Amino acid sequence: MKTVLVASSKGGVGKTTIATHLAAQAALAGESTVLIDADPQGSSTRWAERRAGLDSAVLPLDGSARQRKAWKSIPEDTTRVVVDAAAGAMADDLEAWLEHAEAVVVPVLPSALDIDATVGFLNSLAKAERVRRGQVRVGLVANRLRPWTNASQQAVALLEQWPYPVVAQLRDSQAYVMLVGLGKSLFDYHSAQVRDHQEDWKPLLRWLKK
Ligand SMILES: Nc1ncnc2c1ncn2[C@@H]1O[C@H](COP(=O)(O)OP(=O)(O)OP(=O)(O)O)[C@@H](O)[C@H]1O
Ligand SMILES: [Mg+2]
Repeated sequence: MKTVLVASSKGGVGKTTIATHLAAQAALAGESTVLIDADPQGSSTRWAERRAGLDSAVLPLDGSARQRKAWKSIPEDTTRVVVDAAAGAMADDLEAWLEHAEAVVVPVLPSALDIDATVGFLNSLAKAERVRRGQVRVGLVANRLRPWTNASQQAVALLEQWPYPVVAQLRDSQAYVMLVGLGKSLFDYHSAQVRDHQEDWKPLLRWLKK
């Protein structure tokens, strides 16, 4: 059962957008997929409820209060688990997920304030036992990029100096805002414009497969 944790202590960086997209992509690829919503705001749960009628439905589980209980309630035939963490959670608060995850995806917005605010979270992750032992890989996702701007270019250059790899550069697009609200993802569509944005995910999907 492959498990990916999407986390950052910083709020509004794209954790839910990325977690729902990874869950949709897995479900569309035929994986029996669970999305653990570790955020009491319940955004991932609502997203999963909205796609409940699809063949590529994803089972939402509430992991906001009792993490280990949520983990035990994962159905046996599950092949993929994605955990959407809450803002404010540091590595200590994510212990139950870090015990099982193979990878942690940390979204970062292209601004100095956001990058600075993420350092503390990455330091807390670096101290987690399974991260130290190399049993959990950590990857950064630069999110909401406007690649033609200096701010985005400088942010990516800065992130590339950090000890963790930048595993994707996702552009800013209203498609994310619209689709996630509908219980959908970019992977549910095939228009040329959507395919262009799907390309942004390829390095992340390859990294998760390793
Ligand atoms: N690549 C993107 N392009 C455009 N908008 C985006 C992108 N990624 C996320 N957003 C928007 O940014 C906002 C925050 O994203 P999201 O809810 O995924 O972040 P979060 O880290 O889960 O937030 P929270 O900390 O509140 O849980 C949302 O309105 C979302 O639609
Ligand atoms: Mg969220």
